[in-house]
Amino acid sequence: MQKEIANWFSDQLLSWYQLHGRKTLPWQINKNPYKTWLSEIMLQQTQVTTVIPYFERFIKRFPTVSQLAAAQLDDVLHLWTGLGYYARARNLHKAAQIITTEHQGEFPIAFEQVLALPGIGRSTAGAILSLTLGQQHPILDGNCKRVLSRFAAVAGWPGNKAVEQQLWQLAGEVTPENDQVMAFNQAMMDLGASLCSRSKPRCASCPLKLHCKAALAGEQTQYPGKKPKKVLPEKHSFWLMFQHNEQVLLQQRPASGLWGGLYGFMEFSSKLLLTDYLLINGLGNNNSIELPAFKHTFSHFHLWISPVLVQISAKPDSVQEQSAAQWFTITPLPQVGLSAPAKLLLQQLQATYKAE
Ligand code: ADE
Ligand code: SF4
Repeated sequence: MQKEIANWFSDQLLSWYQLHGRKTLPWQINKNPYKTWLSEIMLQQTQVTTVIPYFERFIKRFPTVSQLAAAQLDDVLHLWTGLGYYARARNLHKAAQIITTEHQGEFPIAFEQVLALPGIGRSTAGAILSLTLGQQHPILDGNCKRVLSRFAAVAGWPGNKAVEQQLWQLAGEVTPENDQVMAFNQAMMDLGASLCSRSKPRCASCPLKLHCKAALAGEQTQYPGKKPKKVLPEKHSFWLMFQHNEQVLLQQRPASGLWGGLYGFMEFSSKLLLTDYLLINGLGNNNSIELPAFKHTFSHFHLWISPVLVQISAKPDSVQEQSAAQWFTITPLPQVGLSAPAKLLLQQLQATYKAE
């Protein structure tokens, strides 16, 4: 980012913060690293309004790191009940014990020592030390990622290492190198939590709108980029639909596996096996119609279903006996459990009858 733009960014954001930023949250009064740490951990997956009463109860019960370290884990977890993500509370307790044994009960103020504590990553370490002591560290929590990726139109998912690296670079460039870093970092979080919201950013009121690339292009909601969807494997299945007048032949599926216990059409893994089956049973010269293939998606794969409708003039006993299948009326739909694609196909058959 150009130096002038980076300076403009921090000036704009700081002016905005003087007027609109939050300065009187419970952890912003009589600050210390312990309180900032606790608030940052609580705020990681939880909104400010939810956090406030939890924070106040927690600080009242455990006013210092040493008292937290001496507590039973169960008591800590009890105070956390309702906040969720309990690993946060376990790490907090474990870190308090490390601080007691390795740092004489004083929260460390060296970046690398803070980063080494359980549950504290690069952004949280930077937030604790900049918000409390004014140390010079950029931060990059979810709010900052949203603001920066929009401002500079950084494409791609921030979970991707290269994208994250690029955002850290930008965070470093916009973070002022003076005594304003404390206000600036709080302002980044506040802007991301208020105006620059995920689905409906209020850009008209934003101090950054004149140079925000996403806003200028009207593409705010394209940033940050989404996690790429996994590419699911594709499988193929060929379904034999025997139809005799207004009836179809359905088979109950094995109790375990796909559509366990539901009724559906006879299934083959290839077109060849399906046609062989017809020939072997002497049904090769019936009217057979290949219906359009369609896709049904499971959590782990796509299933392409190619239905073959075979209209037979007489019910073949051999088929029914071999396959433990049963004849059902098409209208009304059979009163049995049907797989979703089987139901869809039966409804299409019903529509064909109505049309005639
Ligand atoms: N979210 C995470 N940290 C925050 C903070 N210090 N203020 C407001 N929201 C936050
Ligand atoms: Fe976010 Fe809109 Fe401000 Fe850009 S102009 S930083 S998209 S609120």
